[in-house]
Amino acid sequence: MQTIISPSILSANFLRLEEQIQMASEQKNLWWHLDIMDSHFVPNLTFGAPVLKELSKVTTHKLDAHFMVTNPDFFVENFKELNIHNFTFHWEAVTHHDRLISYIKKNYPSAGISINPSTDLNIIPDYIFEKIDLILLMSVNPGFSGQKFISSVYQKIEKLQKIKKEKSLNFHIQIDGGVDESNAAQLIQTGATNLVSGSYLFSAKNKVEFNQRIESLRK
Ligand code: DX5
Ligand code: ZN
Repeated sequence: MQTIISPSILSANFLRLEEQIQMASEQKNLWWHLDIMDSHFVPNLTFGAPVLKELSKVTTHKLDAHFMVTNPDFFVENFKELNIHNFTFHWEAVTHHDRLISYIKKNYPSAGISINPSTDLNIIPDYIFEKIDLILLMSVNPGFSGQKFISSVYQKIEKLQKIKKEKSLNFHIQIDGGVDESNAAQLIQTGATNLVSGSYLFSAKNKVEFNQRIESLRK
């Protein structure tokens, strides 16, 4: 399957959001990555339901919500009318992981878990991989776009690839942070199936270059 590219709108120009979203209207296998931050789990505050409600009206692409918040449970109920496809929460933020995953699965088509660069994959019990649709490996410390890629993420992708093969599982391996044309090919080769990219894509000077940059990540 073709790699899914998830442009992070955190790097978009918010005053021209609709126009920026339309740049990708002809793309296939593209999800919009929505970085929801609460200024508690991470030192930044972004956007919430009112913005996402408007955004969902101007795109047919899937919405991929990445919750960097201390209380993701609250958002499951409150965001369920927004047409979100994938709901990802941070493993570090939660105590009752299994219960939250079941709750997400009842309300959204896809459930994802995310771990920070310093979180070891071994803290996730194996059976959890059978329940989820996506695991997001952070390749920067969450909070901001435009940070430097942390290459220790490759070892985590390798471990996940092994688990997928051994258990014949199909969850997405999504990489988020510092992804650009210099590392995309190696990430895909190692096993990534979904690449988030913010500053690299949105620093394109026009629609043509934006789409060329998406293709450069898939190559
Ligand atoms: C960081 C966010 C990322 C970020 C990616 O906390 O989760 O999605 O916007 O931006 P770049 O690609 O610029 O690192
Ligand atoms: Zn993100």
